[in-house]
Amino acid sequence: MVERPRGTRDFYPEDMGLRNWLFEKFRAASIAHGFEEYDAPILEYEELYTRKQGEEITQQLFNFEDKGGRKMSLRPEMTPSLARMVMAQAKTLPLPIKWYSIPQCWRYERTQRGRGREHYQWNVDIWGSESTAADAELISIMVHFFKSVGLSSKNLEIRVSSRKVLEEVLGSLGIEGEGFTKTCIIIDKMDKLPSEVVVNQLSEIGLDIEAISTIQHVLGIRSLDELVQTMGEESDAVAELSVLFQMMESYGLTDWVGFDASIVRGLAYYTGPVFEAHDRNGELRAICGGGRYDRLLSSLGGNDMPATGFGFGDMVIMELLNECGLLPDIASTCEDVVVALSEELRPAAMSVASKLRNKGRTVDLILDNKKLKWAFRHTERIGASRLVMIMPEEWKAGKIRIKDLKTGNEEDVSFIDL
Ligand code: HAM
Repeated sequence: MVERPRGTRDFYPEDMGLRNWLFEKFRAASIAHGFEEYDAPILEYEELYTRKQGEEITQQLFNFEDKGGRKMSLRPEMTPSLARMVMAQAKTLPLPIKWYSIPQCWRYERTQRGRGREHYQWNVDIWGSESTAADAELISIMVHFFKSVGLSSKNLEIRVSSRKVLEEVLGSLGIEGEGFTKTCIIIDKMDKLPSEVVVNQLSEIGLDIEAISTIQHVLGIRSLDELVQTMGEESDAVAELSVLFQMMESYGLTDWVGFDASIVRGLAYYTGPVFEAHDRNGELRAICGGGRYDRLLSSLGGNDMPATGFGFGDMVIMELLNECGLLPDIASTCEDVVVALSEELRPAAMSVASKLRNKGRTVDLILDNKKLKWAFRHTERIGASRLVMIMPEEWKAGKIRIKDLKTGNEEDVSFIDL
């Protein structure tokens, strides 16, 4: 038997029910904040993703040559496709753009708990607003979603920092541009790699011991007060983060957020505030992550436009919801089961099912010859509320017997009154 590719998932109806439930919650949080849905092809030209700063994601492409010899890739993330779409209509799209999507993304990853080779990633992005209010709004969307699935700030924390913190620190040590971006990408791996490996990688890109120990000190900061002490009141990073934390207080999000200088994110394009949600027990990988990326368009050959957004995978959140006992029982969407008690009554059962469906009820019509006992058990198993029986004598009189499984009541209803 041919197996499914490693790191991919099948969604049997029960799994699909949960997936649809999750996506509806994603959609509801986006819509509650005035966002519109978009989509893009899962297949893109590889060059959309070939950035050179050593990001893991660029080494994990599901890429191949198509029959015309073009280098293609399945999308590992949505942001470059979104950037392409925005760039193509930059002159005409009314700003700010507030869009969301739930694309399937593909990364050739080492599969582990919460990480597969495909995942669905809720993306929420705002383009055309420089204001920190846009970053705060995104965090509000995340929290709206968390609350809607029954999670609280006791379960998880959104850790916030800004790329500007390290940019300022490294800038004062003469490390800028590509050196800064590469440093961020290496630092992002700190919780996954032994510290000697990280230190080696940092020295390989030219950082000396002094720079590395300064970085280590700064990354250990866990409060804005401490950050002010280290960076000084006049630091841009401090000013930006102070505004952001004040805004989050206005939204009533204080319990959900915390400053954490070790959050830098592993993608090259971030330029400002960055954030990730983590479970408070620290058992799972990042639940979601994002930040401001004001200079992505110039790296793709366009004119820059301020942008901020996040990606939120479907895998870690399902683990967390499962652990917290918050996954719903997915009820059947079927209200009625219609059964004919003999083969001759099948046409009658078909017209009854049609009539009920036309009236808006959801109906499972039993297709094969089955005993009444089987029909009862089936109705119970799929969680339908009524069993509609087409019986010889009753049908002759133009009637149908309906059993309500909740109340146990049984009554004969005439076809006309159905
Ligand atoms: P990312 O941190 O690479 O960011 O991914 C965002 C989220 O997608 C992760 O926090 C996780 O929930 C999920 N995720 C990523 N890789 C996997 C995987 N292999 N298996 C399961 N889940 C995964 C981005 O992709 C950015 N483009 C997000 C963004 C949007 N930034 C601004 N706008």
